[in-house]
Amino acid sequence: MRAGSVSIETFHHELNRLKNHDFSKQPSAYRFPHIRITNGAFSELNENQICSLADFLGSIKDENVCALFRFAGMATLEEVSFTRKDGQYLRWDHRASRSRGKRFEKGRIPEFQDAIIGRLHGFLDDIKNRNGGGVSGNVEVIRGSCLYKMAEQPDSFFDLLVTSPPYCNRYDYTRTYALELAFLGCGEQQIKYFRQALLSATVENKSKRQALRAHYCSLKHDQLFSRVESAFDEQAALREILQILHAARDAGELSNNHLPNLIENYFFEMALLVFEAARVIRPGGRVIMVNDNVRYHGEEIPVDLILADFAEKAGLEVEVIWVLPKGKGNSSQQMGRWGRKEMRKCIYVWRKPVGGNGRSLIE
Ligand SMILES: C[S@@+](CC[C@H](N)C(=O)[O-])C[C@H]1O[C@@H](n2cnc3c(N)ncnc32)[C@H](O)[C@@H]1O
Repeated sequence: MRAGSVSIETFHHELNRLKNHDFSKQPSAYRFPHIRITNGAFSELNENQICSLADFLGSIKDENVCALFRFAGMATLEEVSFTRKDGQYLRWDHRASRSRGKRFEKGRIPEFQDAIIGRLHGFLDDIKNRNGGGVSGNVEVIRGSCLYKMAEQPDSFFDLLVTSPPYCNRYDYTRTYALELAFLGCGEQQIKYFRQALLSATVENKSKRQALRAHYCSLKHDQLFSRVESAFDEQAALREILQILHAARDAGELSNNHLPNLIENYFFEMALLVFEAARVIRPGGRVIMVNDNVRYHGEEIPVDLILADFAEKAGLEVEVIWVLPKGKGNSSQQMGRWGRKEMRKCIYVWRKPVGGNGRSLIE
């Protein structure tokens, strides 16, 4: 949106100014607002340069340019850090003082100054190509959790929904995005709040079912919510998996006793999103999703088939499930005990039929 209205001349002018900015000058009051898990993520040189960017941002008068430069700064953090986003955690390069365990070398770590200037040149090229190029000015970004925001969207409105939701794989995105969240000024408390607000994919997530029910009822979507509850309660494969996991938990055999809660919370929230997707898509429109199957306690969870069942109950047709050529192996912990087995990694294409079934799902 900012890129759609920014002046190319002003952007260029500020980029030239940034090239002449003295990144070695001791930055003023700004200090990178680290949280516990980001401490030590940058060399002293790069941390000073990041702080120096904050001083430079203060000197940019144009609001849109300033926001884009700040965004570029945020987008450069991982590259110039001792970390790499690696699924569940930030992986630490051996050069970091807090690096532990297996030696990991992420390769050359550039200076922040060079990396951000390179990135801003990329932004400039994109901006020059807008209007007929790849940048559309007609974008609306809705801030908030899709679990709540979807409910506020109109019926049968969108042509296409493309999504890569969290997988049921225990990845905690507040860890993956810790550098960016810290840069944005999120403290430990706010990050804890985010972790709970995200779609449940970790064993730490508590059930949001009651809060979601209250929200959906307040919007008079109670019937849709009841249909979600029935689809979830009646899903046979899910019932069977939960039964096995509950029994394993009671026998003290699970690696984490909250695993059954994770499965329950994940699939309940996904069922809700699938029903909402079916509601907001116009007849003839499609939903495209990428997701992985997972395995816990030796049990493969056919995420693709369970979600397809929800989709059909929500009034969508499963057009195709593309299985990607190479799936994912299970975790090393699981592999030791249960052997290596590749899980399906798929792209689902669901279509809302035109006619009878294409009715609005809020009746
Ligand atoms: C599998 S990742 C997809 C990443 C994306 N394809 C990208 O390249 O950035 C899942 C994403 O869903 C986001 N997410 C989790 N819960 C959400 C929620 N309730 N509302 C909106 N986004 C959420 C996570 O923060 C994460 O970025």
